[in-house]
Order: sequence, then structure tokens, then C-alpha cells
Amino acid sequence: MAEPAHGPASFWTQANALLRKNLTFQKRNIKTNIRLISFPFVLCLLLVLIQSLVNHELNKASNKCGCECIDTNGDGQCEKVCGIQYSTIDQVGTCPMQNPPEWPPLLQIPAPQYRAVINDSCRRTGSCPATILFTGNNQSLGEILVQNMVPNSSTLISSTPNSSDVLVSLAQNVLGSASWPNLYNYLEPAFASDQPVYEVQQQCTSNSSFSVALQESSITLQQDVSCAQGLHLWKNSSSAVNDELYKGYRKGNPERQINEIVAGYDFLNTNSNNFNVSIWYNSTYKNDTGNAPISLLRVGRSVNLASNSYIQFLLGPATTMLFEFVKEMPKPETELRLDLSSLLGTLFFTWVIIQLFPVVLTSLVYEKEQKLRIMMKMHGLGDGPYWLISYAYFLSISSIYMLCFVIFGSVIGLKFFTLNDYSIQFVFYFIYINLQISLAFLVAAFFSNVKTATVVGYICVFATGLLGGFLFQFFVQDTSFPRGWIIVMELYPGFSLYRGLYEFAQYSFTGNFMGTHGMRWGDLSDSGNGMKEVLIIMVVEWLVVLFVAYYIDQVTSSVSGKSPMFLFDRFRKKHPSSFRRPSLRRQGSKVFVQMEKPDVSQEREKVEQLLLEPSTDYAIVCDNLKKVYPGRDGNPEKFAVRGLSLALPPGECFGMLGPNGAGKTSFISMMIGLTKPTSGTAYVQGLDIRTHMDGIYTSMGVCPQHDLLWETLTGREHLLFYGRLKNLKGSALTQAVEESLKSVNLFYGGVADKQAGKYSGGMKRRLSVAISLIGDPKVVYMDEPSTGLDPASRNNLWNVVKHAKQDCAIILTTHSMEEAEVLCDRLGIFVDGSLQCIGNPKELKARYGGSYVFTMTTPSTYEEEVENMVQRLSPGAKRIYQISGTQKFELPKHEVKIADVFQAVENAKSRFTVHAWGLADTTLEDVFIKVARSAQAFNVLS
Ligand SMILES: *[C@@H]1O[C@H](CO)[C@@H](O)[C@H](O)[C@H]1NC(C)=O
Ligand SMILES: *[C@@H]1O[C@H](CO)[C@@H](O)[C@H](O)[C@H]1NC(C)=O
Ligand SMILES: *[C@@H]1O[C@H](CO)[C@@H](O)[C@H](O)[C@H]1NC(C)=O
Ligand SMILES: *[C@@H]1O[C@H](CO)[C@@H](O)[C@H](O)[C@H]1NC(C)=O
Ligand SMILES: *[C@@H]1O[C@H](CO)[C@@H](O)[C@H](O)[C@H]1NC(C)=O
Repeated sequence: MAEPAHGPASFWTQANALLRKNLTFQKRNIKTNIRLISFPFVLCLLLVLIQSLVNHELNKASNKCGCECIDTNGDGQCEKVCGIQYSTIDQVGTCPMQNPPEWPPLLQIPAPQYRAVINDSCRRTGSCPATILFTGNNQSLGEILVQNMVPNSSTLISSTPNSSDVLVSLAQNVLGSASWPNLYNYLEPAFASDQPVYEVQQQCTSNSSFSVALQESSITLQQDVSCAQGLHLWKNSSSAVNDELYKGYRKGNPERQINEIVAGYDFLNTNSNNFNVSIWYNSTYKNDTGNAPISLLRVGRSVNLASNSYIQFLLGPATTMLFEFVKEMPKPETELRLDLSSLLGTLFFTWVIIQLFPVVLTSLVYEKEQKLRIMMKMHGLGDGPYWLISYAYFLSISSIYMLCFVIFGSVIGLKFFTLNDYSIQFVFYFIYINLQISLAFLVAAFFSNVKTATVVGYICVFATGLLGGFLFQFFVQDTSFPRGWIIVMELYPGFSLYRGLYEFAQYSFTGNFMGTHGMRWGDLSDSGNGMKEVLIIMVVEWLVVLFVAYYIDQVTSSVSGKSPMFLFDRFRKKHPSSFRRPSLRRQGSKVFVQMEKPDVSQEREKVEQLLLEPSTDYAIVCDNLKKVYPGRDGNPEKFAVRGLSLALPPGECFGMLGPNGAGKTSFISMMIGLTKPTSGTAYVQGLDIRTHMDGIYTSMGVCPQHDLLWETLTGREHLLFYGRLKNLKGSALTQAVEESLKSVNLFYGGVADKQAGKYSGGMKRRLSVAISLIGDPKVVYMDEPSTGLDPASRNNLWNVVKHAKQDCAIILTTHSMEEAEVLCDRLGIFVDGSLQCIGNPKELKARYGGSYVFTMTTPSTYEEEVENMVQRLSPGAKRIYQISGTQKFELPKHEVKIADVFQAVENAKSRFTVHAWGLADTTLEDVFIKVARSAQAFNVLS
């Protein structure tokens, strides 16, 4: 490999590498992107479609001011003329009104079934009286005043009012209605609906109903007026009136008896010099279907009644103060408009925006689940660049998404977007997506499985929308609900989003309805506008969540496993990370040391020596490394690694052999920072793995047991990414990548540019090895690098590793003895957490072999003869295997000469049939089996 002189990659180099990788990754995910972007488009289109249907319905002639074709100037041609006179009752509301109609002022009178009663019988006949309560300092004066209010039936002005001046005549009667007033009074609902109009009299007679014709421009409204008996009741005090009114309230009455009252008067200290009155009226008459403010329209008449009767009390019945009519302000022609984007928008748009949450979440969890984050980290990607680029990356994706959404919505003309100030929208969306991304980072810490994360994410999306629309919104609209609790609810980001969108929708809806604009910055100070609080909550939450997410990430998912107090580390004294440590520390493990084989304890001594006199000649120094997994569910503690000491110079490949479960992977995990050692430590390039893992990562390569690759990136892109992380640049990078691809045989036939997801198992393996070696790491860990490779690729791979080990230290675990023999300079056999032996393959074979293996296959009848023959050859021989005529013996080397063996076999051939025979030196495999067996046997004994 070319030898560029490079140090660890800088922050920006790492950031650049990650950014480029992410961009490529995103490019590959084009389908997902399209699906993501098309979601708001589809929703917007759906809205537009429904909107146009609604508009079509609203634009029907019956919803517009009526018009007629009339020949105005007598030239035989007719012109279209519009106006109230050509309109039906339904159309009138939209007509221009230069001179709005005058309506008789009405009292708000409860419908007969709700009126306060003494006994229920009147409810059946519908003849219950309408009650007026009164109180004051002087009861007799009060009586007089109230008497004056309600005309006596005998003093009824007329049962057929003077038609030439209806309003004046009607003003002398006390009219009322149970219908509910509108927001505007262009059309008095009492006369436009079939609700009866009442005339309050002291006593109703059979002929006290009449019909009146109201002339409103060209329309004549014929209205029946029926009699309602007016009853006045003295109460001792204003609190007695309060009490009565409270009991009359439909909801406040404990007996569920409805006793509604017309009005209450407190004449206070009124006397002939002084008129003082306070009036109770029911302000809750409003139509629940809309949000119209309470109309005070019908209060005027109550006031007029009191003043009129006082004047009559002072000046006699001849004097009256008539309240003739009420009349709206003039208005231009209006259109019936209904903006659906504002009505439905809140729910739809909440979904649109919040659906980014699972997208970010799953993407984060994917990197975690596939261990790609750790893989990147192990190859030198720092937390800083990772956070910066990932955050910026998701932020830009979200921003682009939101931008498309707003632009599209505006282009198709949704009022929600066009009427509200774009700068408020921008600020709101921007803050929200930031909050959402930080939240995804936080939540991702609690998931390790993409599927769960996806499901939970989407449940959140739908639940938030629905809860917002069908629960939260009602709380917001219910003005009696404490605002404090709304703020508390808005602490849930989904609800603050909902609230913000709701406010936009409200403003654009009224803006559209009134033909003005939506929300402006100035509107933030409106008392009912929740936008200000929402913005504050979101900004604060964003910062807090981001901080907590970073903190949790450092504590939990960080490979070097920072302590929860890491933030305060700088205030504490740092651990000395030097090699020198007290040499007395291992007294407790003396017993254990004595049981060790001489080669293992020799290695331990070497390590101790090294720790006392640090030298840079060694790439890896493990100092009594231990890993104990705590006992769970009543199981005893598990000793995965029991004190491993090892020193590795650069240029050495150390092979770690051992049966499954021996602790090899635990050892590697500690060395690459996935887990922390229980005690002991290791120094890589002089850096302590407990404290300086981040520094170690810059010169480390890992080929994990399971390939950690991005499915959608090609082999070349993987190598480019990891090469950049290792600070390779420009031509050095391309050259290194190319050489690396060639060396693992992935260069030719376009394999390098195929996506890794389409690779075979062997190809992935080779790519993993190439990744671990790119950028000249000083230390490389390979966990069973050649599993699943065909012999040709394996040979290829071996060449690569051999070539690479020239200037780095490699620790390799394998189950293939052949591989160990070819690649490793030294081997250690690791059984049950500790090294059983250590040395180069030849030494080991000599030490543990020391015997030949003699195999002979004969018909089974001659087995005994073979055995005898072997006994004669070598008295110390041991049979290690026997089955249907095939036998295997171990012959101590010092007892036999090979020539004798040949001689004996020749003899034997002449005496009986020999199907096959063989004589072999001990292989590494035999050594391995022997060592493993004896160690396990020892462990069983102890
Ligand atoms: C109550 O009002 C009546 C009628 O004005 C008056 O004659 C009477 O003196 C008043 N009583 C008191 C205690 O002021
Ligand atoms: C109707 O009222 C007008 C004016 O107020 C008056 O001149 C006329 O005599 C009245 N007609 C009747 C039948 O009361
Ligand atoms: C409320 O308004 C709706 C539509 O405007 C109307 O149909 C309904 O009768 C009104 N309710 C009352 C109690 O006036
Ligand atoms: C009202 O006051 C009168 C006299 O002050 C008293 O007799 C009567 O019981 C009171 N009524 C109520 C309902 O308190
Ligand atoms: C006031 O009006 C509301 C709405 O119609 C009604 O529910 C309530 O009972 C009324 N209260 C009284 C005291 O009339």
C-alpha cells in the first residue's frame, strides 16, 4: 500500500467524509425520497380537490345575492340587477346593504319548556310565564317600576299594529324571542326562522295573539306574535337573585330542573331623584356550532324597559321613551367563503410535518442497529463530526421537505400558507423541525431495533394528530379551560406543533372570511393567540432536548462508555495515563499466576517489564485484562477473560485460537472499546483503552465478525468513506482505494461499483477486511476474517493480510488452523478466559506434539494384529481413534524411527490386507485439541 504520511483526520476532514457518504446514501434512496416528498403533495392536492368541490357548492346561485334581468332604461334590453329585492331569505345575507333593514328590538326570552315554573303543569300546555326577578332598597318602588315594564293586557296598544308605522307601534309592546342572535344582525333570526315571536303581557287572553307584517325593502315578512305571560318576583337581596339565577341555570341546578329567567333587576337606591339599576342578563346565548362572540343585541331592550318605566314613574304613563328599532351597519356584497385548508389543515399538516419524525428516527436507529455508528467510530469518526453532520443532514432534509410543502401549498393557493406572514411560518417551522430532530436523536437512544422504532414512530404520528384534533383542540377552544394546563400540554412537542398550526389556521380562516390577512407579527400579542408561548416552549425544549440527547448518547451508546458524570471530568483530577503503575498490585492473583504455563507467565513478566520501562516498540500491551459479567437471575458471575497479559510489537500477527465461548470476542470487544474491562487495561500505541479510546480509533482498523456495511453503498464508496476518515486525500485516496479493491479481488468486473447489499457473503467479508486495512492503521483486529470464503479468495486474503502486517500489529481470531499457521507469527490458545499457551506455531507443535500419528485401515478382523504391531514398534503408543478397521495411534517421537515404521508396514502387508496407512507429524489441530481438552479437563476438576 502506498505510504502517505498522514496524521489523524481533522474535524472537518471527518465531517466531509461523513457528509459525502450521507449524500451518496441519500442519492441511492431516491424512491424513499420521492415517497416522502409526495406525501404532502398528495395531501395538498386532496385538500384542493375538496376545496374546489366546496367552492362549487358555495358558488351556487342560492348562496349569492339574488339577481334579475330587468329592462332598466327601457331600450328593450335587459340588464342584470342584483339586490335584496331580488333575493330570497337565504340569499339576503350576501347582498350589499347600503341601507340595512330595521328590526324591532327584542328581549331574550327562554323557550317555554325552559322557563322557571312553580308547578310543572304549564310545561305541557306551553303556557309557562316568563319570569323577571327584581330587588332593591325600596320594594314598593321596585314593584311600581316592574309593573310599568310589562304592559297590562288591557293597555295593549293594538292587537293589529298600525301598518303604516309598524315599528313605532311595535315599540310599545314588549317583544321577545327564544331564537339565538347571530354575529351580525342583517337578518333578525326571530323573524327569519319559524321560531315564535313573543309579546310579554301581564295576563294572556285568548285573543292576545296577532300577526304583523314587516316591510323590509321589497320583502314583506308576515310574523305571528303570540302572548307570553310576564311574571315579576320580588327577591330580598341581590344575592337571593343570584341564587335563583344560579339554580335556573341548566347546568347549575342540582335537581336538574330547568328554570330559566328572562332578566333580573336590582334597583339599588333608586328614588325619585336618583335612578340606579343593575341588570342581570344571560350571556351564554351563543350558537355552539360557530365561534360567534356573545351578542349583546338583546340586552338593549332590557335596559330600555327599565329606563322607560322610571320615566313613566316620574312623569306619568303618557311619557314614553320608545326604542324603535335596531339596525346593522351598511356593508358591501359579501361572498360565502369557506377555507378548508384552514379547517382541515391543522390535522393534515400536523401529519405532514410530524411524519418526518419516524424518518429521522429510523435512520438513526438503523445505524445503531447495524452497528454502523460504532463501526464508523472505530475507524476514527469522532462524536463531534458525527453529531454535526448528522444533525445538519437531517436538518437540511427536513428543510427541503418543508420548503417543498410550503411552496407547493402556496402555489396551489391554500389560504393557510398565502394569508399568514411567511416569516412567522418560516420561524415556526424551522424551530419545530429542529426540535423534532433533537427529539429523534433523544428517542433513538432508547431503541435498538428499526422495526420497533418505525412502528412506535408512526403510532406517535397518528396518535398525535388525532389526539390533537379531537382532544387538545377542544381544550384550546374551551375558554373556561385553564390556560396553564394548555401550556403544560404543549410541552409535548406534537401538541405545540398542533397549536401553532391551529393558530395559523384560525387566522387564515378568519382572514379569508373577512377578506383580510392572516397572522402578522403584531398578532403575536393577541391575548387568544397561543403562538407566542408555543414558540418560546419550542425553543427552550429544543435546546434542552438537544443537550439531553447528546448527554445520553455520550453515556449510553458511546463506545468508550463515558461515566454519567463525564461533563464534570474536567473539574476533577485526571487519571494518570502513564505506563507506570505500582507493581505490588497483583498480590491477590499470585495463586493464579503460579498455575500458569511457563510461556504464559513469561509473557506476563515481559508485560510487567514493559510497564515499568515504557517503550514504543510495542503496538499493543495488555496488562492483566479481565472481564467479568455479573451474575443474572441467580446465575453465578461469568468470567469471560481472566487476566490476560500480552505484548505485541508492530509487524506481528498474533493468532488467537480457542473453542467457542472461550472469551475471544469479549477480549476483542474490550480492545475495540465496545465494552470496558472489569479490571486491568491495555495500551495501544501507548494510549490507555479505558481513557483514550478516541485517540486509539484514529489508528485502528477492525474487521468485525459480522459484516457492518451499508446495503446501498458500493464497495468503492465504503472504502472511500473509511479512507477519508483515515485522512487520506486526493490521489492518495483513490490510489489506496484502488489498490485495496484489487488486493481483495473486488476490483474487476464492476464489482467495486455494485451495492454492498448485492454482494455474496464472501465478497462482503473481503470488503470488511479491506475496510479494516485501509489508511494504514497501526493496529488491526480481525475477528474470523476468512469465514465463508472459497479457497481462492482465502489465499488472496491471506496475501493481503501478510502484506499489511509489515507495519502494523494484527490480532486475529480464527478457527482455521491452516490460516493460523500461514498468517500468524505467534499463536495463543485461549480456553475458558485465559491463555493456555503462547508461542509461534512451530514451537507449539514441538512442545505439544512430540509424537507421530500413525493411521492404518485394515479389515476389522485384523485390528488386533495392527495393535500388536504398533506395540512392538513403540511401547508408549496410544490408540486415539478406532472405528471399523481404521485405527489411529500416537507414537512418541523419541521411541520410533520412521524407517522402522516402513519396515513394519511392509511386513504387515505380506501377512494381511492393508487398505491404507499413513504416518503424520502432529498438526496444529492436534495441538489445539490437546490443549483445549486438557484445559477443560483441568477446569472440570478444579
Ligand atoms: C319607597 O318608595 C315609595 C314610592 O316612591 C315612597 O313613597 C316611599 O317613601 C319609599 N320608602 C322609603 C323607605 O324610602
Ligand atoms: C297610524 O299611524 C299614523 C301615524 O303615526 C296615524 O296618522 C294614523 O292615524 C294611524 N292609523 C291608525 C289606524 O291608527
Ligand atoms: C345555530 O346555528 C345553526 C346554523 O347557523 C342553526 O341551524 C341552529 O338552529 C342554531 N342553533 C340555535 C339554538 O339557534
Ligand atoms: C324576605 O324578607 C322578609 C322580611 O324582611 C322576610 O319575612 C322573608 O322571609 C324574606 N324572604 C326570604 C326568602 O328570605
Ligand atoms: C343561559 O343560557 C344558557 C344557554 O342557552 C342556558 O343553558 C342557561 O340555562 C341559561 N341560564 C339561565 C339562568 O337562564
